[in-house]
Amino acid sequence: MVIFHTIQELRAYLTERKHLKRGLVPTMGNLHAGHLALIKQAKANSDLVIATIFVNRLQFLPHEDFDSYPRTWDDDVQALSDAGCDILFAPNEAELYPEPQTYKVHPTPALADKLEGEFRPGFFTGVCTVVMKLFQIVQPDVAVFGKKDYQQLAVIRGMVRQFALPMQILAGETLRADDGLALSSRNRYLSVDERQAATSLSKTLRAMADAAQAPNADIQKIETHALQAMRDKGWQPDYLTIRTQHGLEAIDPARREPWVVLGAARLGKTRLIDNLEF
Ligand code: PAJ
Repeated sequence: MVIFHTIQELRAYLTERKHLKRGLVPTMGNLHAGHLALIKQAKANSDLVIATIFVNRLQFLPHEDFDSYPRTWDDDVQALSDAGCDILFAPNEAELYPEPQTYKVHPTPALADKLEGEFRPGFFTGVCTVVMKLFQIVQPDVAVFGKKDYQQLAVIRGMVRQFALPMQILAGETLRADDGLALSSRNRYLSVDERQAATSLSKTLRAMADAAQAPNADIQKIETHALQAMRDKGWQPDYLTIRTQHGLEAIDPARREPWVVLGAARLGKTRLIDNLEF
């Protein structure tokens, strides 16, 4: 695996390999098996896999964990190399944002201002702006994003569609620990006790999905009940909600289309998100 920190060196290397189909996996590092599964998926769908590691300040609110976000460079390099990644692009901030990034990509408010966007205002503008920039630098043929960040995937798909970006977006399934907890870089903030308790997020989502499939299910009641159940367990949920997979709209129970249950909740200081399609 070759490692580049500058756009110029990366572009020079890519230009010499124009004929190869490029697969991109953008990350913020602190890689776990979920990220590595995306690398495998990129590898199966391209000839040259490019991973990026960049903790993107633009997508963090002032009070969020930008400074403490886990940075595990040596382990990440080893893991990517073992997974068969061809190129690691890890720009520093001065390289990616040499001047204040005042041109930004603002995703459609109808999709980006709810759920994560409601509780993390500006988050998806930060994500879209950096992802657009990485797309321009790498010019991938395919790019892989995880369903773990379900709304992010939907927002990126919308951006690619509306800007007619010449690439295919692939969705990676969420990798989970044996007890159901979705793998996440933020899991490492959990204490031993919190880690044990953390399984209730995926369990609650599962219970909501099961309840919603019963005949004459009252979706609102299911959501209210789940919020209360999580609060009773000591969580502070931001949302626990059942939406359409397409557009993440409130559902019409009379119309059986594909649904997804999405949740975000804080356990102590750690904010976790998860979702389940059904
Ligand atoms: P990060 O949180 O590092 O995630 C990088 C990619 O890994 C995302 O596409 C995410 O959905 C995926 N991922 C995370 N956990 C996963 C799991 N358990 N199973 C499968 N895939 C998983 O998402 C970001 O970074 C950033 O917002 C980024 C897109 C890089 C822009 O800065």
